[in-house]
Amino acid sequence: MTTTTHDNHSAFLLSLPNIYSQSPISCCVFSRTMVSGAIALAFLPLVLTFIIRYRYYFVLFYRAVLVRMWYDCTTGLSREERAFQYVLTHAIPGDPESILETFDLWCSKVEFISNIGPKKGKIMDRMLSEHCPLTVLELGSHCGYSTVRIARALPLGARLYSVEMDAINAAIAEKIIRLAGFDDDTVELIVSPSDEVIPRLRADYGLERLDFVFMDHWKKCYRPDLQALEGSGLLGKGSVVLADNVLFPGAPNFLRHVRKSGLYEWKIHRATLEYSKGIRDGMAELVYQGIK
Ligand SMILES: C[S@@+](CC[C@H](N)C(=O)[O-])C[C@H]1O[C@@H](n2cnc3c(N)ncnc32)[C@H](O)[C@@H]1O
Repeated sequence: MTTTTHDNHSAFLLSLPNIYSQSPISCCVFSRTMVSGAIALAFLPLVLTFIIRYRYYFVLFYRAVLVRMWYDCTTGLSREERAFQYVLTHAIPGDPESILETFDLWCSKVEFISNIGPKKGKIMDRMLSEHCPLTVLELGSHCGYSTVRIARALPLGARLYSVEMDAINAAIAEKIIRLAGFDDDTVELIVSPSDEVIPRLRADYGLERLDFVFMDHWKKCYRPDLQALEGSGLLGKGSVVLADNVLFPGAPNFLRHVRKSGLYEWKIHRATLEYSKGIRDGMAELVYQGIK
């Protein structure tokens, strides 16, 4: 009788989910789990703060990288080709406004493309209508969004030279530019890297002065290309250089040069990154003053 009670008691103890019924090893595992849990809890506010603070960057990463990878795999087309297909089937040919609006719709609702976008685009439109430039250079055409935006704001007889080093992007840009109704006399697309084009602008394209330059290519090229333009003698007093994305992703070397050279009157137009909320960006507007 006594033996049975003792056996029952041991069985009862063993069945308890209680630390007193555990071996020293499970005790150790249990306390380690408790400590890890406590550490994880202590870090939770930090992780939450990080996620909340950088939520717009996560959204951008999702839209620009993950969504793009998904569609690349499922459609077999490049992002630029997908954008073109959409514009081709939804915009009115020969109507630059409709082409820009269709692009904006696709970029804000479907996939991200780093066009200048409508908000910063309006700042550029205003500058173009103020300065009425006759000879314009664009560095970085991509799909031709900003090219169309500039071309539709130009006065009669003006010419835009748009430089794109990626042949596949350039082919899409060419189709978009022609779809918008601009011929070769208004917009000339040059498929080559900017550092090879700038030194040839005088000899090969007969240019003597640039009234307006829009920089929107790789940010690391901004400073060397601006210095090449200064050296080419194509910038005259009053020539305007507009550089996009100088705050995000940022072009600190370019801004340092602008500040130190003393060649420009300049200011930054603050805005948010194209097709994104909450990511601060800006465009630098430089007005060349010539060598003092
Ligand atoms: C941000 S996208 C341009 C977007 C375009 N300006 C718009 O707003 O519609 C940058 C483009 O610049 C091109 N690019 C980058 N570095 C370049 C260079 N050194 N010369 C010419 N094109 C360049 C890239 O291939 C890419 O298509």
